[in-house]
Amino acid sequence: MYRLMYPMRTYLIVSGHEEPNVMAADWVTILSHDPFIVGVAISPKRYTHRLISKYREFVVSVPSLEMLKDVWIAGTKSGPEKLKEMSISLVPSTKIKTPSIKEALANMECKVIDAREYGDHTWFVGEVVGYTYNKEAFRGNKPNLKFKFLAHSAWTDFVTFNEKIYRA
Ligand SMILES: Cc1cc2nc3c(=O)[nH]c(=O)nc-3n(C[C@H](O)[C@H](O)[C@H](O)COP(=O)(O)O)c2cc1C
Repeated sequence: MYRLMYPMRTYLIVSGHEEPNVMAADWVTILSHDPFIVGVAISPKRYTHRLISKYREFVVSVPSLEMLKDVWIAGTKSGPEKLKEMSISLVPSTKIKTPSIKEALANMECKVIDAREYGDHTWFVGEVVGYTYNKEAFRGNKPNLKFKFLAHSAWTDFVTFNEKIYRA
Protein backbone atom coordinates (compact mmCIF):
# COMPACT_ATOMS: atom_id res chain seq x y z
CA MET A 1 0.00 0.00 0.00
CA TYR A 2 2.82 2.39 -0.81
CA ARG A 3 0.21 4.49 -2.65
CA LEU A 4 -0.93 5.78 0.75
CA MET A 5 2.17 8.02 0.61
CA TYR A 6 0.98 9.66 -2.62
CA PRO A 7 0.85 12.18 -4.29
CA MET A 8 4.65 12.43 -4.48
CA ARG A 9 6.99 14.63 -6.49
CA THR A 10 8.53 12.98 -9.54
CA TYR A 11 12.21 13.35 -10.45
CA LEU A 12 14.50 12.11 -13.19
CA ILE A 13 17.63 10.19 -12.26
CA VAL A 14 20.53 10.43 -14.71
CA SER A 15 23.28 7.79 -14.48
CA GLY A 16 26.28 6.59 -16.50
CA HIS A 17 29.10 8.31 -18.34
CA GLU A 18 29.76 7.34 -21.99
CA GLU A 19 26.23 6.00 -22.53
CA PRO A 20 24.05 7.81 -20.01
CA ASN A 21 20.60 6.68 -18.98
CA VAL A 22 17.57 8.45 -17.47
CA MET A 23 14.78 6.97 -15.33
CA ALA A 24 11.82 8.45 -13.46
CA ALA A 25 11.82 8.24 -9.65
CA ASP A 26 9.26 9.25 -7.04
CA TRP A 27 11.07 7.79 -4.05
CA VAL A 28 13.56 10.61 -3.51
CA THR A 29 14.14 12.67 -0.37
CA ILE A 30 16.45 15.15 1.40
CA LEU A 31 18.48 13.50 4.19
CA SER A 32 20.71 16.36 5.34
CA HIS A 33 20.87 20.11 4.81
CA ASP A 34 24.56 20.78 5.48
CA PRO A 35 26.14 18.83 3.93
CA PHE A 36 23.34 18.52 1.37
CA ILE A 37 22.58 14.79 1.15
CA VAL A 38 19.73 13.08 -0.72
CA GLY A 39 18.47 9.50 -0.91
CA VAL A 40 16.78 7.60 -3.73
CA ALA A 41 15.22 4.12 -3.69
CA ILE A 42 16.05 2.21 -6.88
CA SER A 43 15.05 -1.36 -7.66
CA PRO A 44 17.91 -3.71 -8.62
CA LYS A 45 15.83 -4.47 -11.75
CA ARG A 46 16.56 -1.01 -13.19
CA TYR A 47 19.37 -0.44 -15.70
CA THR A 48 20.02 2.71 -13.67
CA HIS A 49 20.86 0.53 -10.65
CA ARG A 50 23.69 -1.06 -12.58
CA LEU A 51 25.07 2.31 -13.73
CA ILE A 52 24.92 3.94 -10.28
CA SER A 53 26.59 0.88 -8.72
CA LYS A 54 29.34 1.06 -11.37
CA TYR A 55 30.07 4.80 -11.41
CA ARG A 56 29.00 5.72 -7.85
CA GLU A 57 27.36 8.91 -9.16
CA PHE A 58 23.93 10.10 -10.22
CA VAL A 59 22.07 13.33 -10.99
CA VAL A 60 18.64 14.13 -9.55
CA SER A 61 16.86 16.32 -12.11
CA VAL A 62 13.67 18.26 -11.45
CA PRO A 63 11.22 18.01 -14.38
CA SER A 64 8.32 20.33 -15.09
CA LEU A 65 4.90 19.32 -16.36
CA GLU A 66 6.06 20.28 -19.87
CA MET A 67 8.49 17.34 -19.67
CA LEU A 68 5.78 14.77 -18.89
CA LYS A 69 6.10 12.91 -22.19
CA ASP A 70 9.82 12.39 -21.55
CA VAL A 71 9.22 11.52 -17.89
CA TRP A 72 6.82 8.80 -18.99
CA ILE A 73 9.31 7.32 -21.46
CA ALA A 74 12.05 7.48 -18.79
CA GLY A 75 9.73 5.69 -16.34
CA THR A 76 8.41 2.96 -18.62
CA LYS A 77 11.31 1.99 -20.88
CA SER A 78 14.65 0.48 -19.87
CA GLY A 79 18.17 1.34 -20.95
CA PRO A 80 19.91 4.21 -22.77
CA GLU A 81 18.17 3.38 -26.10
CA LYS A 82 15.10 5.24 -24.77
CA LEU A 83 17.05 8.52 -25.01
CA LYS A 84 16.55 8.40 -28.79
CA GLU A 85 12.79 8.72 -28.25
CA MET A 86 13.13 11.52 -25.73
CA SER A 87 13.53 15.21 -26.48
CA ILE A 88 15.75 16.17 -23.52
CA SER A 89 19.34 17.34 -24.06
CA LEU A 90 22.09 16.02 -21.82
CA VAL A 91 24.70 18.62 -20.91
CA PRO A 92 27.92 18.36 -18.86
CA SER A 93 27.50 18.60 -15.10
CA THR A 94 29.70 20.94 -13.09
CA LYS A 95 31.33 18.50 -10.62
CA ILE A 96 30.72 14.93 -11.81
CA LYS A 97 30.99 13.02 -15.09
CA THR A 98 27.32 11.97 -15.16
CA PRO A 99 25.51 14.57 -17.30
CA SER A 100 22.63 16.87 -16.33
CA ILE A 101 19.39 17.62 -18.18
CA LYS A 102 19.31 21.04 -19.86
CA GLU A 103 15.51 21.43 -19.79
CA ALA A 104 15.16 20.43 -16.10
CA LEU A 105 14.28 23.10 -13.52
CA ALA A 106 17.26 21.92 -11.43
CA ASN A 107 19.99 19.28 -11.47
CA MET A 108 21.64 17.97 -8.31
CA GLU A 109 24.95 16.23 -8.93
CA CYS A 110 25.46 13.42 -6.41
CA LYS A 111 28.34 11.20 -5.34
CA VAL A 112 27.24 7.95 -3.70
CA ILE A 113 28.29 7.81 -0.05
CA ASP A 114 26.20 4.79 0.96
CA ALA A 115 24.00 2.10 -0.60
CA ARG A 116 21.86 -0.35 1.36
CA GLU A 117 19.20 -2.90 0.50
CA TYR A 118 15.78 -2.34 2.04
CA GLY A 119 13.25 -4.94 0.90
CA ASP A 120 13.02 -4.85 -2.89
CA HIS A 121 14.88 -1.54 -3.42
CA THR A 122 18.39 -0.21 -2.85
CA TRP A 123 18.60 3.06 -0.96
CA PHE A 124 21.35 5.07 -2.64
CA VAL A 125 22.57 7.97 -0.54
CA GLY A 126 24.21 10.78 -2.48
CA GLU A 127 26.10 13.84 -1.33
CA VAL A 128 25.21 16.77 -3.59
CA VAL A 129 28.60 18.05 -4.75
CA GLY A 130 27.29 20.44 -7.40
CA TYR A 131 24.05 21.77 -8.80
CA THR A 132 22.58 23.95 -11.54
CA TYR A 133 19.10 25.44 -11.68
CA ASN A 134 16.78 27.71 -13.59
CA LYS A 135 17.10 31.03 -11.77
CA GLU A 136 13.52 32.06 -12.63
CA ALA A 137 12.10 28.76 -11.35
CA PHE A 138 13.74 29.35 -7.94
CA ARG A 139 13.54 33.14 -7.72
CA GLY A 140 14.02 34.43 -4.17
CA ASN A 141 15.32 31.01 -3.07
CA LYS A 142 11.90 29.35 -3.32
CA PRO A 143 10.11 27.44 -6.05
CA ASN A 144 8.20 29.61 -8.50
CA LEU A 145 5.04 27.53 -9.02
CA LYS A 146 4.44 29.09 -12.41
CA PHE A 147 7.01 26.55 -13.58
CA LYS A 148 4.62 23.65 -12.88
CA PHE A 149 6.68 21.29 -10.73
CA LEU A 150 5.62 17.73 -11.45
CA ALA A 151 4.02 15.34 -8.96
CA HIS A 152 2.71 11.81 -9.41
CA SER A 153 -0.77 10.84 -8.27
CA ALA A 154 -1.22 7.25 -9.50
CA TRP A 155 -0.21 5.10 -12.50
CA THR A 156 -0.59 7.37 -15.55
CA ASP A 157 -1.91 10.31 -13.50
CA PHE A 158 0.26 13.33 -12.75
CA VAL A 159 -0.55 16.65 -11.09
CA THR A 160 1.09 20.01 -10.51
CA PHE A 161 0.75 22.61 -7.77
CA ASN A 162 -1.96 25.23 -7.47
CA GLU A 163 -0.29 28.64 -7.52
CA LYS A 164 -2.38 29.89 -4.61
CA ILE A 165 -0.29 30.15 -1.43
CA TYR A 166 -1.90 29.41 1.98
CA ARG A 167 0.23 31.11 4.65
CA ALA A 168 0.68 29.40 8.04
C1 LIG B 1 6.47 8.36 -12.24
C2 LIG B 1 7.35 7.16 -12.00
C3 LIG B 1 8.09 7.06 -10.83
C4 LIG B 1 8.94 5.98 -10.60
N1 LIG B 1 9.65 5.90 -9.44
C5 LIG B 1 10.55 4.90 -9.26
C6 LIG B 1 11.37 4.88 -8.09
O1 LIG B 1 11.32 5.76 -7.23
N2 LIG B 1 12.24 3.84 -7.97
C7 LIG B 1 12.36 2.85 -8.91
O2 LIG B 1 13.17 1.93 -8.74
N3 LIG B 1 11.60 2.87 -10.04
C8 LIG B 1 10.72 3.88 -10.22
N4 LIG B 1 9.97 3.93 -11.38
C9 LIG B 1 10.18 2.90 -12.41
C10 LIG B 1 11.38 3.20 -13.34
O3 LIG B 1 11.44 4.56 -13.71
C11 LIG B 1 11.24 2.33 -14.60
O4 LIG B 1 11.29 0.96 -14.24
C12 LIG B 1 12.27 2.63 -15.67
O5 LIG B 1 11.88 2.00 -16.86
C13 LIG B 1 13.67 2.18 -15.27
O6 LIG B 1 14.54 2.56 -16.30
P1 LIG B 1 15.99 1.90 -16.49
O7 LIG B 1 15.80 0.39 -16.51
O8 LIG B 1 16.46 2.45 -17.80
O9 LIG B 1 16.82 2.34 -15.34
C14 LIG B 1 9.06 4.97 -11.59
C15 LIG B 1 8.32 5.06 -12.78
C16 LIG B 1 7.46 6.14 -12.98
C17 LIG B 1 6.66 6.22 -14.25
